[in-house]
Amino acid sequence: MHDTLRELAVADPLRPGYHFTSPAGWLNDPNGTCQRDGVFHLFYQYNPESPQHRSIQWGHATSTDLVSWRDLPIALAPSEGPDAEGCWSGVLVDDGGRPVIVYSGHAEGRQTACLAYGDESLTSWTKEPGNPVLERPEGVDVTEFRDHAVWREGGSWRQIIGSGIRGEGGTAFLYSSDDLKEWSLIGPLAVGDADALPDDDPLWTGTMWECIDFFRLRPDGSTAAPDGESGETHVLIYSAWDDGRTMHPLAATGSYDGRALSIERTQRLDLGGRHAYAPQTFVDEAGRRILWSWMQEARSDAAMVEAGWSGAMALPRTLALDESGTIRQSPVAELEGARGARLAWSGGEKSAISRGTRAELAFEARIPEGSGVGVDLFASDDGSERTTLRLGRDAAGDVTIELDRSASSLGEGLDTRAHTGVVPGAGETVAVRAFLDGSSLEVFVDGIATTTRVYPTRDDADGIRVGARGGAAVANLEGWEMLDQEQPVRQMLPGASE
Ligand code: FRU
Repeated sequence: MHDTLRELAVADPLRPGYHFTSPAGWLNDPNGTCQRDGVFHLFYQYNPESPQHRSIQWGHATSTDLVSWRDLPIALAPSEGPDAEGCWSGVLVDDGGRPVIVYSGHAEGRQTACLAYGDESLTSWTKEPGNPVLERPEGVDVTEFRDHAVWREGGSWRQIIGSGIRGEGGTAFLYSSDDLKEWSLIGPLAVGDADALPDDDPLWTGTMWECIDFFRLRPDGSTAAPDGESGETHVLIYSAWDDGRTMHPLAATGSYDGRALSIERTQRLDLGGRHAYAPQTFVDEAGRRILWSWMQEARSDAAMVEAGWSGAMALPRTLALDESGTIRQSPVAELEGARGARLAWSGGEKSAISRGTRAELAFEARIPEGSGVGVDLFASDDGSERTTLRLGRDAAGDVTIELDRSASSLGEGLDTRAHTGVVPGAGETVAVRAFLDGSSLEVFVDGIATTTRVYPTRDDADGIRVGARGGAAVANLEGWEMLDQEQPVRQMLPGASE
């Protein structure tokens, strides 16, 4: 990593301060997420040389509290062979005490499954000499073939790999193995229908499913690996992709018989779509299903190069399935550790005003039909820049969410589309939390997440205003400044040039 790249990145006021970012350069998907001996490990798709998606390595950082992070040396880097052009996404599994990374090698446009074996500290990795261990299935016209979910089932290993069947839709191929090296194909776990919806529909399933994940989830938040005999709700998470376009993460739920998932429902995982892309989950030592995802940028390539960095992780969130089958997310409780001073509020009963661009807000909103709550964030004094969250109630009684980005930035060439959706099953009152961090915004309304990126340009675009109209009421409004977590160890990474 170049020193100048790091200096540029640190100087950028739009860089998040309490979200995980790489030291500098490019970051995309979370990989190999796990907790071992109390320590959380976050690996990620990384290019320390520039904020561009090139020659991807596995960056590595650890944390004991999910708030402050320590950078460790690169875990995996391209070498001659099947990963010569990139060590792409994957997972970390425990093979009888031995840590093993299952990842996608990328070389000459070919994607294959590769293995690497780790030491106790997860810092030293040796690639399997027989890589690749698995190639795309023969006799099927697949669009792409990458990314992995691996688990134990009935005394052997199972794996799914993200893919797509040309002319049909996205898929995940299911395999079994006794030793992680020899894999036999069971078949497609499920196949999407790319023609069922137009490609601008938020539930469009794409022509390829990348970053797949598969597990059981219950209303009490407890979770387990898939089990083809349990009859419980299984969740398949994937990121819908199409010919180079990252669309959005979806969750398909249904029943799994050990060979195939029969999908009963597909839901959006985040109303911000591509802004919370490539999610990967793991079960921590307390039994929580924790999800990380990549908040990709929405500014131009040139702006990213100028900034010296690209990409941050969304806040880690726990998942639960409610009684109606909707997946709810809540930021992990540990994030309270990043809270600093309480925000000071001014204004009247119907409108509360504060300031901050690294902040958390929490309140309850009562929204009878015909009323609404509006929250301006990253707002300049003259109102020319602002991002507005609007909550309302539709005729069916559902609470509606609109995140209006039309005035988020005076900058050019930015995506200004609003994020919209509903909160299924909302009662009279909903619980709202919002997390602002430089250029990122995550809103949770009764556990329905909306994640987005905004790029205010004005120095005074730090206004916060919470208002209610037409019979709506805001109660228990609280806010905190969030503390910038300066990474304690940002070391020069091996293999990096000056
Ligand atoms: C998703 C993705 C994965 C791939 C990785 C490459 O963002 O395209 O499918 O493994 O990124 O960095």
